[in-house]
Amino acid sequence: MCYKISMYPSWTLSLIGQSLEERCNRILRDMEGSLTARDRVGIQDFVLLDAYTSESAVLDNLRKRFNENLIYTYIGTLLVSVNPYKELGIYTKKQMDIYMGVNFFELPPHIYALADNVYRTMLTETNNHFILISGESGAGKTEASKKILQFYAVSCPSTKLLDNVRDRLLLSNPVLEAFGNAKTLKNDNSSRFGKYMDIQFDHMGGAVGGHILSYLLEKSRVVHQNHGERSFHIFYQLVEGGEEDLLRWLGLERNCQRYSYLVQGECAKVSSVNDKSDWKTVRKALSVIEFSESNIESLFAIIASVLHLGNVTFVADSQGYATLNNSPEIHWLSKLLGIPAQVIQVGLTHRKIEARSEEVLSPFTVDQAVYAKDALAKAIYGRTFTWLVNELNESLANKDSSRKTVIGLLDIYGFEVFSVNSFEQFCINYCNEKLQQLFIQLTLKSEQEEYEMEGIEWESVPYFNNKIICDLVEEKFKGIISVLDEECLRPGEATDMTFLEKLEEKMGGHPHFVTHKLADQKTRKTLERGDFRLLHYAGEVTYSVVGFLDKNNDLLYRNIKEVMRQSKNAIVKHCFPSTEPDSKKRPETVATQFKSSLVGLTEILMSKEPWYVRCMKPNEGKQPGLFDDVLVRHQVKYLGLMEHLRVRRAGFAYRRRYEIFLQRYKPLCPDTWPNWKGTAAEGVECLVKHLGYKPDEYKMGRTKIFIRHPRTLFATEDAFEVCKHELATRIQAKYKGYRVKGDYMRQRQAATKIETCWRGMKARREREKRAWAVKVIKRFIKGFMTRNQPACVDNTEYLAFVRQNYLTRLKENLPKTVVDKNTWLTPPPIMQEASQMLRKLYTRHMVRRYVQGIMTERKAQLQIKGLTSSIFKGTKENYPHSVGIPFVDTRISEEDIHIKVYQMIRQERIKYSVPVVKYDRNGFRPRFRQLIYTGSAAYLVEEAKIKQRVEFNNLKGVSVSTLSDNFLILHVQCEDIKQKGDLVLQCDYLFEALTKLCLVANKHNFIKVVQGSVKFDIQPGREGFVDFKSGQETMIYRAKNGHLMVESTRTKSRAMIQN
Ligand SMILES: Nc1ncnc2c1ncn2[C@@H]1O[C@H](COP(=O)(O)OP(=O)(O)OP(=O)(O)O)[C@@H](O)[C@H]1O
Ligand SMILES: [Mg+2]
Repeated sequence: MCYKISMYPSWTLSLIGQSLEERCNRILRDMEGSLTARDRVGIQDFVLLDAYTSESAVLDNLRKRFNENLIYTYIGTLLVSVNPYKELGIYTKKQMDIYMGVNFFELPPHIYALADNVYRTMLTETNNHFILISGESGAGKTEASKKILQFYAVSCPSTKLLDNVRDRLLLSNPVLEAFGNAKTLKNDNSSRFGKYMDIQFDHMGGAVGGHILSYLLEKSRVVHQNHGERSFHIFYQLVEGGEEDLLRWLGLERNCQRYSYLVQGECAKVSSVNDKSDWKTVRKALSVIEFSESNIESLFAIIASVLHLGNVTFVADSQGYATLNNSPEIHWLSKLLGIPAQVIQVGLTHRKIEARSEEVLSPFTVDQAVYAKDALAKAIYGRTFTWLVNELNESLANKDSSRKTVIGLLDIYGFEVFSVNSFEQFCINYCNEKLQQLFIQLTLKSEQEEYEMEGIEWESVPYFNNKIICDLVEEKFKGIISVLDEECLRPGEATDMTFLEKLEEKMGGHPHFVTHKLADQKTRKTLERGDFRLLHYAGEVTYSVVGFLDKNNDLLYRNIKEVMRQSKNAIVKHCFPSTEPDSKKRPETVATQFKSSLVGLTEILMSKEPWYVRCMKPNEGKQPGLFDDVLVRHQVKYLGLMEHLRVRRAGFAYRRRYEIFLQRYKPLCPDTWPNWKGTAAEGVECLVKHLGYKPDEYKMGRTKIFIRHPRTLFATEDAFEVCKHELATRIQAKYKGYRVKGDYMRQRQAATKIETCWRGMKARREREKRAWAVKVIKRFIKGFMTRNQPACVDNTEYLAFVRQNYLTRLKENLPKTVVDKNTWLTPPPIMQEASQMLRKLYTRHMVRRYVQGIMTERKAQLQIKGLTSSIFKGTKENYPHSVGIPFVDTRISEEDIHIKVYQMIRQERIKYSVPVVKYDRNGFRPRFRQLIYTGSAAYLVEEAKIKQRVEFNNLKGVSVSTLSDNFLILHVQCEDIKQKGDLVLQCDYLFEALTKLCLVANKHNFIKVVQGSVKFDIQPGREGFVDFKSGQETMIYRAKNGHLMVESTRTKSRAMIQN
């Protein structure tokens, strides 16, 4: 029970992980499930059958399963199918999905499992395969092939283009079945031709095209059917389902009974066949396959022509020759085939014979005419069928020439035995013999041979080799076909009976050939005189020789061919080409042609991998649920199931060349991955040991490994499936790494290159810069050294630099104000003159700018200040301090001047007023007074009193000291003793007050700056003195000498400093 798990090595398991374990468990559950269900529904694979040698046990198992509606059972990978004769609901889309991509033995046997397995093997191994579907007529071969096709239609990748191909592949079936299938006693939809269909797949698994080969259509059915049988479906479909217009155009009635070719078997209606709906399907299919409307018309015209031809009757004239009445059939034939009625008439009643060198028309007897008519009907239909297959192939052809893999589906007519068997059955059964031979070769014989070749111990399985029967039929010069051909070709009166005699002559004593004459007493009773019996691998079949020669010759008179060549119907024209080989030369007989085509088929199949579906009939009555033991046992026997089972049981389910096996599974073992150094066989040995194969599960051959059970391989495949992804990831990672590394290396190289170039360029630039710098410095030094020489080449640049440099620096260091006389950059010697000029220019420029910026008031102020300056600059010590203090209009506001004073000096306007300290002329007591100027006089005011009025006319002068005191002495004209003397005043705004006085009195030079003492008049004739001196602090006192001593501190005058 732990088998599957134990066979995975630990590292493989770890690779596979949980999912594989789950998968294993599921498979185990399935296997267990099928084991427990064993009693109820038998076993799914005959290989697991204990009594595998017992036919009864096999039969029991089949019956059990059949009764449970389980129609499929495996023998290894061979599928046995029993026709249920009822719908089972096991072909749904859901079922397809279940079987898609699942290992063969994981699910119950099904045709889909086989189809899927073939498909996946084809994809993984990229080789060609075929599925041989065999079984007797009505066993379900055609149905199986359709199911397979439907499965591929659903499971293959789909694109718009592929869907188109898919539809064509699917719809080619109803068309072919309509034209090639018919109701027989064995099967209501019996294939009356052999079909091999290749489905072509591209490397992605998409179905991209197809090709059909058809084999020997049983065209005799067109003119004759056994009782209970019908002609080909298409005739009935047309008559039953054809649209009214179409039938009218074809001259047909909707009544099969009207057509003699359709009622030979007296069974035009079949309950299981719906001709009407089948007609619709065929019409739709024809348009999907893209048959042109004109081709479709021509095709139905031919079908109708055959029906009309069947109704043509001949009457013997007086000489016994066949004549044709101007019947409506001839009219329709003429219309539909596009041949003049007269020509048809002659063609149907005469044959051309050569008499000496002349060609003459020889009339037919009625029988001959009927024979010729039937031959024509068969020929037209047969050739049209071939044309149809070619058209289908055209439509299915894949135009792309790239390599394809194919899966071939072989659905060929099954082995059949009727009460009367003719040439057709002989061919059909011969074909089945050939396929059985192929099956034997591919499975039993080649299997055993392979074991021997590979040196695998092997117990030979006895099986019936049907080569002896094949040889009996086909052997050159000796076989039945040779004898038949000989009879057909030899001159003289050859008949079916002479053929039989020849057979008896040649085959007498052959264990598989019996005739009435050759048989023993007992057997003779079961044989007619005109019969021969073949002991086929599938059973005995008695053939009636009647018609063998005719059918083998398949003669169509030359003149009737010529008639057909005149046809305007495109298909007929194509089928009877004017280039047909000279009719004088005999064409190959039908049997020989068939034999060659089978040889061709065998070659096609031998080049592909085979898969088998063995179909069986449960009963002869097409009954659902009825299992006829005898019938099934017979089929089990002749289908070779027992031998196959024995070989399977004794043999190995799977084998592969060491190289291929190792190549595929080597990733599963660390020793073999990625490369195995030794021989492939050793590698495989190592690999399977690592995988834990048990000794009885596999054998090592000379060139191949043989694995006994499929499950062993599936487990390995499962492990590989999982490992594959891991490997793919690793390879991907490695590759990505490799690519990225490559990219990185390239980028690094590029970066280095760019860096190198960049550095080189930078270094070159640096070097150039340095070289340039050296030159510049040299020139500079030379220039410096020659700077004092007259301008020459050496120093021009330097001097220009010096000039520029000086000017640039000068620009940054210009004096900021007009008064700033100190700031000026010392010029280099060559710039002395320029510097002076510039300085002058700049000073002027500043002055102008300054002057332009001065307002009117300020100008007036400055003018006054100018006056002050002209008087005091350089004379009075504290003058510089006053420069910055602006003058005002007056120092005492109007309200501070007593109203009375105003009234007293009403006539005069006050021009200026300033507080002063007046020193008494006697005693020098200080008193605060207001000094007021009007237009004509200066007033000394105390509150409301005018203490003294000094007319400007009387003002002799004003004295001030040179020191920093604020004293002024106004000298007044004094003629009268009563008049007050000079005024000794101290004023904080000395310069302002004096300048204003000059202006108001309009006297500019009456101020005297006196050094030392100032004499003043106390009263006329009496003098006083004011002494000025500098001291530590400001002091004003009466000196001992009676003078007023004014001591003032020394101030550093700005003007003086500036000077
Ligand atoms: N799997 C199936 N399920 C249901 N019915 C089936 C199945 N297989 C076959 N049949 C029935 O059996 C009939 C005959 O099958 P089919 O035509 O496939 O036989 P055949 O083997 O091709 O015979 P022949 O050799 O005469 O062509 C079908 O028409 C269908 O009714
Ligand atoms: Mg069939």
